[in-house]
Amino acid sequence: MQKLPQPLLKKMADRRATGGLRSLPQNTGLVDFSSNDYLGFAQNEALFSKSFQLLLTENIAQNGASGSRLLTGNHKLYGVLETLLATFHEVERALVFNSGYDANMGFFGAVPQRGDLVFYDEHIHASMRDGIRMGLAKAYKFAHNDITALEATIDQNKDGLGPEGVVYVVTEAVFSMDGDSPDLKKLAKMCLSKGHHLVVDEAHAVGIFGNKGEGLVQHLGLQKQVFARIVTFGKALGGHGAAILGTEDLVDYLMNFARSFIYTTALTPHTLATIISAYGFLQEQGLEERERLHEHIHYFGQRVEALGLARHFLPSLSPIQSCVVAGNDKVLTLSGHLMDKGFDVKAIRSPTVPAGKERLRFCLHSTNSAEEMGLVLELLSKKI
Ligand SMILES: Cc1ncc(COP(=O)(O)O)c(C=O)c1O
Repeated sequence: MQKLPQPLLKKMADRRATGGLRSLPQNTGLVDFSSNDYLGFAQNEALFSKSFQLLLTENIAQNGASGSRLLTGNHKLYGVLETLLATFHEVERALVFNSGYDANMGFFGAVPQRGDLVFYDEHIHASMRDGIRMGLAKAYKFAHNDITALEATIDQNKDGLGPEGVVYVVTEAVFSMDGDSPDLKKLAKMCLSKGHHLVVDEAHAVGIFGNKGEGLVQHLGLQKQVFARIVTFGKALGGHGAAILGTEDLVDYLMNFARSFIYTTALTPHTLATIISAYGFLQEQGLEERERLHEHIHYFGQRVEALGLARHFLPSLSPIQSCVVAGNDKVLTLSGHLMDKGFDVKAIRSPTVPAGKERLRFCLHSTNSAEEMGLVLELLSKKI
């Protein structure tokens, strides 16, 4: 076989030298403080049966989608799911993509045009950054969750706006690495007053915020003030896939121009049955799970305070609780120690986060117990 080219071997060696080399973990069977399965849906047997039952009821005995949605893959559960999403998320229309990564690549690669300007929070997810890079608009980052800095950045760069140019402001409802949220009300108000188009990725907010788990935008009543929302199904919903929520025109446009929508095989009926059933669950057992999760978030915060750990943790009211431990080696050692004691807490290293901001990321779940949270924090407090 031909060897990996020398420059790539060097890149790997450099990555190894900084302690940042990635490899696939084994499924550990440890106490879960790392998955995105915030409500335990991914492992819920009743949900599994419900999805299966839906396929039987709909008389679907089909394994694969057999083609892209624009060709042969647009099976009937797509219509069911997209109608459900539009109603549940109080929006004109929803368009399902194969993943959140695809949704963001599709949206940002196709929507912002030459002459438009994109302003994005410096901590947004890689999928949005990659999409923005694919698009034709100039893009500028602004300091994390800082609306004053955003306004200043827009002001400094507004000369680049074309005659019909649109300003897009891009953020997350809950930041995947920090667990915090922007002041969405203030941001939406500012965007509305200036005619900017606000885009919010709700990957880590759906299922967690809102009376029925609709996400932070709806929790705050801002659904009419946001140009587009990205919701994903691989986190609290426990499945796979994503959708973009917006106007009829936006969805028609994306179907025509979003390359990650057009040039890929559609999701399987079983995947869609799981998502449809999970949305049903959100409004049933989900309520209890969500309440328990928020109790856990509160309890975790109390223990962090009581153990004198607060200065290490980033402020967060979400299930993502990040404890900053600068240095790849140091954060790996700490994570290894917690793993040895039976707790799956992942080290998030640079370059995934900036050097000096490496962290242990605790993902809390409705299925964790108070005892588990107390124990893992006590272990941490003795080692940090
Ligand atoms: C904020 C955010 N957006 C998008 C994605 C990508 O979603 P998916 O895993 O469905 O590709 C992630 C995944 O971690 C995320 O955290």
